[in-house]
Amino acid sequence: MARVNENYLKLPGSYLFSTIGKKVAAFQEANPDKTIIRLGIGDVTQPLAPEIIKSLHNAVDEMGKAETFHGYAPDLGYEFLRKAIVENDYKARGCEIEADEIFVSDGAKCDSSNIQEIFAADSKIAVCDPVYPVYVDSNVMAGRTGVYDAKAETWSDVIYMPCLESNGFAPELPKEVPDLIYLCFPNNPTGATITKAQLQEWVDYANKNNAVIIYDAAYEAYISETDVPHSIYECEGARTCAIELKSFSKNAGFTGVRLGYTVIPKELICDGVALHGLWARRHGTKYNGAPYIVQRAGEAVYSEAGKAQLKDQVAYYMNNAKTIKEGLSAAGFSVSGGVNAPYIWLKTPDKMTSWEFFDYLLENANVVGTPGSGFGPSGEGYFRLTAFGTYENTLAAIERIKKL
Ligand code: MLT
Repeated sequence: MARVNENYLKLPGSYLFSTIGKKVAAFQEANPDKTIIRLGIGDVTQPLAPEIIKSLHNAVDEMGKAETFHGYAPDLGYEFLRKAIVENDYKARGCEIEADEIFVSDGAKCDSSNIQEIFAADSKIAVCDPVYPVYVDSNVMAGRTGVYDAKAETWSDVIYMPCLESNGFAPELPKEVPDLIYLCFPNNPTGATITKAQLQEWVDYANKNNAVIIYDAAYEAYISETDVPHSIYECEGARTCAIELKSFSKNAGFTGVRLGYTVIPKELICDGVALHGLWARRHGTKYNGAPYIVQRAGEAVYSEAGKAQLKDQVAYYMNNAKTIKEGLSAAGFSVSGGVNAPYIWLKTPDKMTSWEFFDYLLENANVVGTPGSGFGPSGEGYFRLTAFGTYENTLAAIERIKKL
């Protein structure tokens, strides 16, 4: 008799952004005359940059000719893209990463949920609280998180590292030593960052305790301050303890195109085994590579024209972040984030819970955001707004909120 993976049955509710999507759809159906502004999920709104479109067109034409047609992509990704990544994202920042340590994929969401597969089933994970829900949910599916406490909204076998106003939304080194540590900076959802010196402490801690850091740098392009690291490999010793995940969704608007990569240095040994080899084995078995056309588009991200166009795109979204932050501050909200990240993290007014504020905002301002508690118990009483909307909608949303 076929049986299901019972771990899936332990998952409470649906995926955060699916729940929000359903609530918003129901509201819109009941109120067809209302114009809803969506600043919930971090999905981009600006079209792909012209240099990327040009590259996509060229690659499509190549696929139409026998002499330039491409079938299956190489396991790790095309050399042209991996070289561009190494030159621009690593060598230019003084990080020692080689092209054969880059694994090209169809996005950081898949990589961040799949990477746990190469670790022991009883590995103890540590996550920031609040946290991007994918890290926890994927470990629940793997049966690694123990029992769920519905009241506390926590898992018995997960180490939660609270990120609160009192610690600047930066996690503290956990007392109980984890095997796997998930870090995301600039942070989703709080928009907070840590300095290079703070990240170095995590690298030292992981090396000392034989832990592995899974470092999600999806929002790296939004860093504006100088002492904030763009990559964990800027820290000494990171090659022996860290895996880095990168996305093309936020820096280049590829949410609908799909492209990302994972870096596993060859020196990263766990239990006497090189993780590079394990991930290569998994990649080869379960994945057939991001499409040639998309990898060519990724290459264009690193061209001189592409870089200039994307710098403008990031600036466009960061202007939205400024608009939200200044507008809400002027309206008396307590806000953070939005300086090195496209997310603004605000305290809900009048002691409303995160979901109460979600409903209040949807019903009274027709604006969608993301309830902080959806990211973990320490997110209760907070709310996230994304800067990825259009400028016009962002401005309109803030005007509506101010009038409440
Ligand atoms: C978010 O809104 O947290 C992100 O857009 C979700 C994602 O990148 O998968």
